[in-house]
Formats: sequence, structure tokens, C-alpha cells
Amino acid sequence: MKAIGIIGSGQMGMGIAQVSAQAGYHVYLSDMSQEIAEKGKAAIGKQLARLVEKEKIEQQAADTALDRIEPIVRLDPMANADIIIEAATEREEVKRQIFAAASEILGHRAVLATNTSSISITRLAQAVKDPSRFIGVHFFNPVPLMGLVEVIRGLATSDQSAAMATDFAKAVGKQPVLVKDSPCFVVNRILLPMLNEAFFVLGEGTASMEDIDRGVQLGLGHPMGPLTLADLIGLDTLLEILRVLQSDFGDPKYRPAPILLKYVEAGWLGRKTGKGFYDYSGDAPVPTM
Ligand code: CAA
Ligand code: NAD
Repeated sequence: MKAIGIIGSGQMGMGIAQVSAQAGYHVYLSDMSQEIAEKGKAAIGKQLARLVEKEKIEQQAADTALDRIEPIVRLDPMANADIIIEAATEREEVKRQIFAAASEILGHRAVLATNTSSISITRLAQAVKDPSRFIGVHFFNPVPLMGLVEVIRGLATSDQSAAMATDFAKAVGKQPVLVKDSPCFVVNRILLPMLNEAFFVLGEGTASMEDIDRGVQLGLGHPMGPLTLADLIGLDTLLEILRVLQSDFGDPKYRPAPILLKYVEAGWLGRKTGKGFYDYSGDAPVPTM
């Protein structure tokens, strides 16, 4: 059976684990502690149960997929994985530490990948043993629903690694697109300035949160307003991404809106903490200002 290692069992790690398990991979799912990794598996169990309730998959398929997920802390079992994907917090120093450890156990023919939203693959490759087997595979949130994976080659990535990453994306039901290594790649390069502008508009008091969201939904036909989408992505992640854009391009147009910084300072990071621009503790989201 094919196997995958996933490092970081937050919302993206869980999503990648779910689609991989449903596609028949054995999944080693790791995080900072066994407890966090177990929680990740339990949350995937709930997502699968919902799919059974809605009659999208059979109970047997859900059980089999969940059984394929093995929560772990130490990375050693990932030595027999065909691909290891890092999906931890969007901070370069965190990722570098993970790559150093993962390089030690990576199988001889396996590929090491990162789900980073923004950071240079070529720069991150400095922290791995074999840069030819290092690549970006950028999934979108929520992973089970979004069809795209950006495949990003660093300067040293081999053709074989690129082919393996592309095949993996297809195997889990996604459409890969090949993207050159540039800050934020393609989709986030376009998305982030729009979200940041929505934060400035909010901070300047031009319209209420709900009207900003309603405006973009109804006026532009987006499935979610920008503040709702920001809460889904995670405000800490967005702040880190904007900082990468600002520093890597050296362009002040990417400076994060002050209101984003305030919300992150408050620990109001979005859905994952129960509160971001909206408060999710009740039946329906309520704006926090
Ligand atoms: N996880 C799993 N399933 C979910 C879900 C989630 N987080 N949210 C909604 N769903 C399911 C619902 O249960 C529902 O299923 P059924 O049709 O079987 O009932 C289905 O998706 C549709 O849900 P809704 O009718 O409630 O909502 P919707 O029609 O608005 O669709 C959505 C939900 C697909 C998430 C849609 O709102 C959407 O496309 N939003 C934009 C998402 C987006 O832009 N993602 C990219 C973010 S940027 C990124 O990921 C890159 C990065 O590096 C930051
Ligand atoms: P998250 O905050 O939900 O989860 C991050 C997880 O990483 C946490 O469970 C944390 O405990 C874990 N972690 C931190 N340091 C670790 C370490 N040293 N070892 C193992 N685990 C560690 O974040 P997320 O939204 O899942 O994002 C993860 C990655 O995916 C980031 O690089 C992010 O930029 C990228 N990404 C996010 C989105 C999104 O919409 N949120 C979309 C695409 C890509």
C-alpha cells in the first residue's frame, strides 16, 4: 500500500490526510504532541461521518479511510512513506526545523513536500538534505472541496520529483498546475492583496463587516465574502503570508492592514479559534465589531 507522511495536523494537514486516506494511502499524521495528532484524526472522523450522513460515501468506506490514519509524534514511521508533506504553521523557522528532521528519515526514493502558502521553495530547500527531492504542493482550503493543487518547483527540484508530486495530486483527486517559484506563487499572489484591502476598508470604517462580505458576494459573485474567507483561512496565516510578500518583493503595497495585526494580537485567529472577524460560538456567526 502507498503511504504518506503529513507533518502538522491543523486544518490543512487534516484535509490532506482525509483525501489521501480516501484515495487509499496509509497516512502517518504527526504534530507537536500525540494528543494533537489524535484530535486531528478524530476531527477527520467527524468529517467522514458527515459524508456518510449525507449519503455521499458508504459507512464501510468511511471506516476504512479512518483506519488508514495513524496519529504519531516521532517521524520515524514515515521512513516508508512515498511522500512526506509538511503542513505546519506558516513560519520559516518552524518549517526549517521540520525539514532537517524529515530529511533524516526520508526514504531513498521518496519526495519531501511543503504546503507553504507563500515561502520560497528554493530558500526552504536550503534546510533539506537533498534539494532535488524537495517541492511545493499547495492545496486549497477546505481541501476535500477545492480542486486545485499548485505544484511549485524550486531551482534544484528534479523532473522526477515534479512528476511524483503531480501524480500524487491527481491520485487524491486534484488538478495540479505547474507554477514557478515566486512569493505566494499564483493564486495567493492574487488573493492576498484583495483580502488585505478588505481589512483596510473595514479598519477605515467604510462599511460594516457584513456589508463588506455581502458586497463582494453579491457584487462579484464570490462564494464567500473576504472577511468570512479570512476567518476560514486563519488570520495568523494571512499575516505571515503578507509579511512574506512584503519582505520578498520589498514592496510596501503588501503591508498588512493594522486591523489584521490587532486581531492576531488578540488571538482571534478565525474559525480555528472560534473567533476572528466573526464570533462562531453561537448558532450563526456574529460580527465582532
Ligand atoms: N469542510 C468540508 N466540507 C465543507 C466545508 C468545510 N470547511 N464547508 C462547507 N462544506 C460542505 C458543506 O457541508 C456542503 O456540503 P453538501 O453540499 O453535501 O451539503 C458543501 O460543502 C457546500 O457548503 P455550503 O452550501 O454551506 O457552502 P458553499 O456553497 O458556500 O460552499 C465552500 C462552501 C466550497 C467552502 C465555498 O464557500 C467556497 O468555495 N468558498 C471559498 C473557499 C476558498 O476560496 N478557498 C481558498 C482559500 S485560499 C487557500 O486555501 C490558499 C492559502 O494558502 C491560504
Ligand atoms: P493550522 O494553524 O490550522 O495548523 C498548523 C499545525 O501545525 C498545528 O496543528 C500546529 O500544532 C502544527 N505545528 C506547528 N509546529 C509544528 C512542528 N514543529 N511539528 C509538527 N507540527 C507543528 O494551520 P493550517 O491552516 O493548517 O496551515 C498549515 C500550512 O498550510 C501553512 O503553511 C499554511 O500557510 C498552509 N496553507 C494554509 C491554508 C489555509 O487556508 N489555512 C491553505 C493552503 C495552505
